[in-house]
Amino acid sequence: MKLDRLLTRHRRMGRAAARRALAAGRVRVDGVVVRDRELEVDRFREVMLDQARIQEPERARYLICHKSAGLLSATSDPVHRTVLDLIDAPEREGLHLVGRLDRASTGLILLTNDGRWSKRILSAENKVPKVYLVETAAPVMEEAVTAFAQGFWFPTENAFTLPAQLEILGERTARVTLEEGRHHQIKRMFRRVGNRVISLHRVRIGRLDLPEDLQAGQWREMTPEEVLLVTHPAPSHPRTCPFP
Ligand code: URA
Repeated sequence: MKLDRLLTRHRRMGRAAARRALAAGRVRVDGVVVRDRELEVDRFREVMLDQARIQEPERARYLICHKSAGLLSATSDPVHRTVLDLIDAPEREGLHLVGRLDRASTGLILLTNDGRWSKRILSAENKVPKVYLVETAAPVMEEAVTAFAQGFWFPTENAFTLPAQLEILGERTARVTLEEGRHHQIKRMFRRVGNRVISLHRVRIGRLDLPEDLQAGQWREMTPEEVLLVTHPAPSHPRTCPFP
């Protein structure tokens, strides 16, 4: 919500008064004086007008989970256990999944109450890579590497898949890196090259690896560093000065 709107929702404060308060430097967001009335303020920020707290900040939560096979990527389901069922009642309140893994797929899945963070991860524009280990029914052919890189036409979505990286690891094993997440995408791509996925395990999102000590079915809060690893690309190498 825009800062001036948030202020006008405060008792007895009209629009003109909100603007005057902003111009006078009486408004602080997370302790910093802000004069920009257009500033988007989410519910995780503390907003103060003089000594009065206009908005109490909500705690942003970021969880990492190792999804086991058989769990649905959903918040609730009348029949099947879901990823959210791994988390007990008060803890799971307000959380949503950042993307999905098929019921049989395993590995890294994230949960949060911060919709802006999950949007950043899921938006294809941001090119956050998601890495999967795949086992296939038939040998992975060299031609598939080019086909994945060129993309496939998915008529149901009326769209081409973005270039995907396929690395052959063994006769029937491969690593796939996607920068988007279409429904059953990897399974559908392998079907297009005449193969079939037997198992699928996500090992990485952005620069965050599935921790080795997180067993299937376990979850924990993420560290602030891990939260940044998901959305922030690796810093590019500092340029070396060509002059002595
Ligand atoms: N692609 C799939 O086909 N399934 C998943 O769970 C993830 C990516």
